[in-house]
Amino acid sequence: MKLWAGRFQKETDTLVNDFNSSISFDARMYQEDIAGSMAHAAMLGRQGIIEAHEAEKIIDGLKAILADIEADNVEFSLENEDIHMNIETMLTQRIGETGKRLHTARSRNDQVAVDFRLFVKKEIPVIIGMVLELEKVLIKKAKANLETVMPGYTHLQRAQPTTFAHYMMAYANMFKRDVTRLEDCLERMDECPLGAGALATSTYPVDRFQTAAALGFARPTANSMDSVSDRDFAVEFLAACSILMMHLSRFSEEIILWCSWEFKYVELDDAYSTGSSIMPQKKNPDVAELVRGKTGRVYGSLMTLLTVMKALPLAYNKDMQEDKECVFDAIDTVEMCLPVFAAMLDTLAVQAKNMRSAAAGGFINATDCADYLVKKGMPFREAYMIVGRLVNMCIKTGETLDTLPLKDFRSVSNVFDADVYRALELKTCVNGRKVYGGPAKEAVEAQIAAIEEFVEARSHGQT
Ligand code: ARG
Repeated sequence: MKLWAGRFQKETDTLVNDFNSSISFDARMYQEDIAGSMAHAAMLGRQGIIEAHEAEKIIDGLKAILADIEADNVEFSLENEDIHMNIETMLTQRIGETGKRLHTARSRNDQVAVDFRLFVKKEIPVIIGMVLELEKVLIKKAKANLETVMPGYTHLQRAQPTTFAHYMMAYANMFKRDVTRLEDCLERMDECPLGAGALATSTYPVDRFQTAAALGFARPTANSMDSVSDRDFAVEFLAACSILMMHLSRFSEEIILWCSWEFKYVELDDAYSTGSSIMPQKKNPDVAELVRGKTGRVYGSLMTLLTVMKALPLAYNKDMQEDKECVFDAIDTVEMCLPVFAAMLDTLAVQAKNMRSAAAGGFINATDCADYLVKKGMPFREAYMIVGRLVNMCIKTGETLDTLPLKDFRSVSNVFDADVYRALELKTCVNGRKVYGGPAKEAVEAQIAAIEEFVEARSHGQT
């Protein structure tokens, strides 16, 4: 029998029962639902809304249900629709009449809002922890490759020389922002909707500060209608996950390129790549490709929830039951991608020689050649034009700037001297870029130190 049978003359159609029910996915929030109910019952007891011994009985009953669910001794029923009604019904079956007092001054609307927030709040630190592990891998790779010169690209054309360490720190900074974005989002969602009731609180002397504190929230939410109709926290979380996945996906794309035979900048460990069922020579970057592919799922989750919410009038609407599966899927996807990606990166071998020869092969030091003239007093625009002519000359003759004879340099400008070759060495080009944020060894070391400090602070909980 339904909890609302009093109002109804007919049983719910089985089609509707199946359609309406969310237990198949919201059962995942059983811990949060029980925690919320225990905090609520304790508050009801303390405020004299129910008797203290009743509150105790309810809490004991809920603890026993929790233990049974954990021991896999509980079967949820579709008839009871969702995790909230399943647990409440189970409680009354077990402890009798007292169980019926639990739902005083509460609605499933504030109940689901609190469960869902607690759930997302619990997962954010898990994801942050995984991102920090990835940061540690980046730091390790960077430290080992401070002098591994490689081409930096714009438009995927060789542009200026950089190092693998500088490249790794670029990603480290993206992931740092992901961590702080998740932290910001966690801080904003740290408000407890419990006690908002269906939408307008209740006439009982409910103490929302008590339940908020008991559940580990910073404070209760400020408006009861907003409390039950707000899913910003989930949207924001999905947005943060999407941006994080975007970073992982860009990184994956680079790794896929880098391990192609055209680039050969890195080689994936055998344990982190796969073969082909037909082509014996293949070694495929499946992990990176799947991470790139799964990024689409997480974006999809964000779009799902934004679209579900876009025209909902206040306050609760059943549409909002569609909020959970997309968030759960995003959590599972992100938590699956991060560790495998970190392990793949950790084990990949850097082919420093290939990176260097790619950097040496083109005209990656053309800017430096122009800068050489500028340092000798020429205005940059003029120097730029002269080097353009030199590059054109080299392309025709099959030379590069570092092999071009001095007389050819001087045929375009007599400012050139023998010291130009030194200025064009890749090492000079990289190490000359000592500017804050740049690729020179000491500049990258400073970047590494900053990320290390960021990671350290979090592992000691001092953020
Ligand atoms: N299963 C519902 C959900 O996930 C719980 C809230 C139901 N509230 C209601 N008034 N029908 O959103």
